[in-house]
Amino acid sequence: MGALVEQGLDDKSIYKSLRQFYEKNEDVFHACFKANKDDRALLRAQKMKDLLPPGFRPERILDVGCGDGVITSYLGEIFNLAAQNVYGVDIYERHDKGLNFQYLPYSDESLIPAEDDCFDLTIALMVMHHAPDALGLLAEMRRTLSDKGRVLIRETDSGYPGGVEFNTVNDELFFRVFQENQSLAQNLNFNNEKTWRSAFERAGFSIVKTNHSECDRVFNPVWFLLEKNQGPGFSP
Ligand SMILES: C[S@@+](CC[C@H](N)C(=O)[O-])C[C@H]1O[C@@H](n2cnc3c(N)ncnc32)[C@H](O)[C@@H]1O
Repeated sequence: MGALVEQGLDDKSIYKSLRQFYEKNEDVFHACFKANKDDRALLRAQKMKDLLPPGFRPERILDVGCGDGVITSYLGEIFNLAAQNVYGVDIYERHDKGLNFQYLPYSDESLIPAEDDCFDLTIALMVMHHAPDALGLLAEMRRTLSDKGRVLIRETDSGYPGGVEFNTVNDELFFRVFQENQSLAQNLNFNNEKTWRSAFERAGFSIVKTNHSECDRVFNPVWFLLEKNQGPGFSP
């Protein structure tokens, strides 16, 4: 890395050289950044089912920040839902074709394109720290959630020494070098668990449960199970 900088290369060329380095060292590359898409998605979908109350059977689900849509699709399958009841929304459209869900395009990025109270399970996995306006997004998730609905959020708790810096470098490397998605390497907003909890409460949610079962992972992911509280919620 130092040698690349000393050569006076521009950023793009540095990222390209790093990518080539990792690709030549396939084992390192694989260990760091490549996971089997299907295994990962199935694992996440199963985990979400386990975190929800026993017997909870959603009829309509929304994946906010669905990305490639693979997790969205598996979650629908785990709950035996037809594709017309499984929705995904993202600010960048890049979902894989032929998956078992419907993609909802934004026409205004501050509004989830759906009616009030229409989902009974909304998920947002590793999305909040990328959202340009996390509180506004949470308010929209609340508006579109039914009164008995649940929200599942997976977010990193960066409240350990160097956590914000570590996660920032990790995301920069991942999105600039490995996925070449420059937009996701910008506006990173890593917080500790306490700050996320207050954001969820401020947006009108009660925190039913948190789960730290993945704390062996270096970026320290935490799961939050939320429900609507009785108040009116936050208006941006
Ligand atoms: C790290 S990726 C996670 C993708 C997927 N949820 C997963 O776990 O594999 C974050 C995603 O959030 C999306 N995103 C960021 N802000 C958003 C917003 N306000 N509304 C919807 N999607 C958003 C990004 O475009 C990106 O696809």
